[in-house]
Amino acid sequence: MELIHKYAEEITIHLNGVLELHAVKKIIEKPKYEVQGDLAFPCFILAKTSKKSPNLIALELANEINSPVFEKVIANGPYVNCFFNKMMVSKEIITSIAKAGENYGSLEIGKGKNIVIDYSSPNIAKPFSMGHLRSTVIGNSLANIVEKCGYKAIRINHLGDWGTQFGKLIVAYKLWGDEKRVKEETIKELLKLYVKFHVEAEKNPNLNENARIWFKKLEDGDEEAYKLWKWVRDESLKEFSNIYELLDVHFDSFQGEAFYNDKMTEIVNKLDEAKLLSNSDGAEVIDLQEFDLPPCLIKKSDGATLYATRDVTAAIYRHKQYQFEKSLYVVGHEQSLHFKQVFLVLEKMGYDWAKGLEHIPFGFILKDGKKMSTRKGKVVLLEEVIKEAIELARKNIDMKNPHLENKEEVATNIGVGAIMFHDLKNERQNNVEFSLEEMLKFEGTTGPYVQYTNARACSLLRKGNFQDTASNVIGLDDQYSWSVIKTLMEFPNVVKRSFTQFEPSQIAKYLIRLSQDFNKYYGHLKILSTDEQLQSRLLVVKSVTLVLKEGLRLLGIKAPQKM
Ligand code: ARG
Repeated sequence: MELIHKYAEEITIHLNGVLELHAVKKIIEKPKYEVQGDLAFPCFILAKTSKKSPNLIALELANEINSPVFEKVIANGPYVNCFFNKMMVSKEIITSIAKAGENYGSLEIGKGKNIVIDYSSPNIAKPFSMGHLRSTVIGNSLANIVEKCGYKAIRINHLGDWGTQFGKLIVAYKLWGDEKRVKEETIKELLKLYVKFHVEAEKNPNLNENARIWFKKLEDGDEEAYKLWKWVRDESLKEFSNIYELLDVHFDSFQGEAFYNDKMTEIVNKLDEAKLLSNSDGAEVIDLQEFDLPPCLIKKSDGATLYATRDVTAAIYRHKQYQFEKSLYVVGHEQSLHFKQVFLVLEKMGYDWAKGLEHIPFGFILKDGKKMSTRKGKVVLLEEVIKEAIELARKNIDMKNPHLENKEEVATNIGVGAIMFHDLKNERQNNVEFSLEEMLKFEGTTGPYVQYTNARACSLLRKGNFQDTASNVIGLDDQYSWSVIKTLMEFPNVVKRSFTQFEPSQIAKYLIRLSQDFNKYYGHLKILSTDEQLQSRLLVVKSVTLVLKEGLRLLGIKAPQKM
């Protein structure tokens, strides 16, 4: 039940067809102060047709409405303000949330339909960057959100595992590589080799020619080249999986760029037949001047394919495979041009479904206001950063709650949750300042704050010996309960908004508000005192943990019962 909807229904009944329900719903406002009522309906719009003053209309309307859902309905100047019957509404809400359980807020808009989400997608043999972390966290949350809306999410890790750089890597490994060291510290070692290659190639241009030959061999399926490439890919994936395991993020497919190697010829031929290709200095390109964009490169002059060629091919493959309604690419905004080009190429090829392709861009992660970059040789290894967050969380537990069970697990939940929440709490297009200290605070707008609020609610339920099937629920009529109830009611709408805008921040911000409302409720009421409202109060607590837990789950964050 949504309060606005309920109020709009009542008002509409009394308007005799002058306004329709959705029009009424649109103009209903929240009064400035809570004491003025829960909702206000402005009557200006009715003055024209009825030739009465808005104030008079408000008076008449207020008199006419008399449903038991309202405690009272009064005219406030040109507004009709309503006060809901708190006992009745709160009882209805908390019983319905408890009944729905974790399905509260679930929607059916996507029933039977698929959404593909391309996220994380790091480049093998290179460090997992801060940008990839953002893509991982945002993409994972979006996948959870679309599933909450009834869609089937197809989670794809489009690994950067193809391209001319693998020719260089093979040459470097054959010259200077050491199998044991690569096995021990894959990414660090491979990066070293890659950097060394560039230094040496400055002095010895032959190396570049060799690299080109080796990549050509790789593309043509040469056994030695393929074996080396496969080994590098496997070892890199092993290292990336450590990160995915810590974050508890999963994929349905790791079909990256290499997967499309044998599927591109067909697509390039199609482009050719459709007369979309033109020659530019020996390279094959698709002209996009009509859109004021630079041409999209499809084939280099030496015949090698490019990033865009693989993305065009991948989109077509995915549509065939999954018949998606939408296909999302969670990639930093610095790749906006690339995706614009790829989507336009697909439209020019006549694919109607290309309208369902969407780039979901996001900002940078900053350290002290500057972009965190992986400078030559000096890499911030993400796994270490995550482990540091977990370590800090563990120290905190040692201080506050040294006898906690599952300390290790809870520390991971808090450390990882802190990083994720910090990333997701602002609109994704904003940059994020990376500060472990900031994100691990138990106060303020952090993941640990929400987790802690939930743990506090869980502990209340334990102390109150709350049984999941609460009886004697009569509802509540104090202002603190009412604030919590009203916020709880917003959840389904928040889920919907987070979906239509592809904004997990909608959920993160909401969880902060719910936590704040709950902490006031907790601070002002004696929840566990035994009176006839005890079961109702506990059911509010139960509803709060249900929604906090489910909201956190949508963000990819765990909700430990004890902290
Ligand atoms: N590997 C790319 C990078 O690190 C991101 C790939 C994103 N997905 C895609 N389909 N292009 O920049």
